[in-house]
Amino acid sequence: MSTIHVSDTPQALAQAAAEFICSLAKNTIRKRGRFAIALSGGNTPRLTYERMRLTDNQPEWSRMYFFWSDERCVPPDHPDSNYRLARKALLAHIPIPAGNIHPMDCSTSPEAGAEAYESLLRGWVAANGEPAFDLVMLGLGDDGHTASLFPGTRALDEHERWVLANRVDRLGSWRMTLTYPALRASEQIIFLVQGGSKAPVVKAILEEHNSELPASAVSARTGSPHWYLDAASAALLNPAVRHDSTRDGQKNDG
Ligand code: 6PG
Repeated sequence: MSTIHVSDTPQALAQAAAEFICSLAKNTIRKRGRFAIALSGGNTPRLTYERMRLTDNQPEWSRMYFFWSDERCVPPDHPDSNYRLARKALLAHIPIPAGNIHPMDCSTSPEAGAEAYESLLRGWVAANGEPAFDLVMLGLGDDGHTASLFPGTRALDEHERWVLANRVDRLGSWRMTLTYPALRASEQIIFLVQGGSKAPVVKAILEEHNSELPASAVSARTGSPHWYLDAASAALLNPAVRHDSTRDGQKNDG
């Protein structure tokens, strides 16, 4: 059963998500001495990354290790780069060793980059133990994709590898993405979704449980993901589905 958190606005969503992430990071660092997080891309997470460095409840940044859920195959200073998004909104503003930041790199080739990232992750687990990630952040496309697990692409059928180069014909481009096995190697998963254009696909996943949609098949070690939505993206959900949701941190009464 997914946990659903609904905030009134994208700004409130970002604040609620940032508080969840920073609180989880502090507790995990206290317990495990580290916090490994895979960051999502696209536009939605920028506000959350900014709130993470501005909240009162800041984790010990030097104990945090940053990976990515997926990457576009573009240079790291390209406007479409998911690494650039996180660097500008968060990483350039916090006291963190460069060695704690592990961007995905397609500069040689998508396949070579995916193999190198796979080795990096396997080596990370060998040296630091499971889980591979304490948290994976994901977004949601209006076609039900998440990370770069797009409908009809090869990466959906991968059962062993944690990282794949994935050709996305719909975009006419290559992506690098974590696979379902990699997501299942994460202790927890959080989806961040905002905007009315996502309301139909949010309903299809959380209420209609449409198994055809890539994001429907996502699960973590602790089970179902946490969904952080704004009112617009949650607008089509049946009130019963939102029953256990919280609004800006206050428990909804139904
Ligand atoms: C990417 C993302 C992708 C994204 C969704 C939602 O690299 O594009 O990882 O999965 O999260 O497409 O994107 P928006 O936040 O821009 O709507």
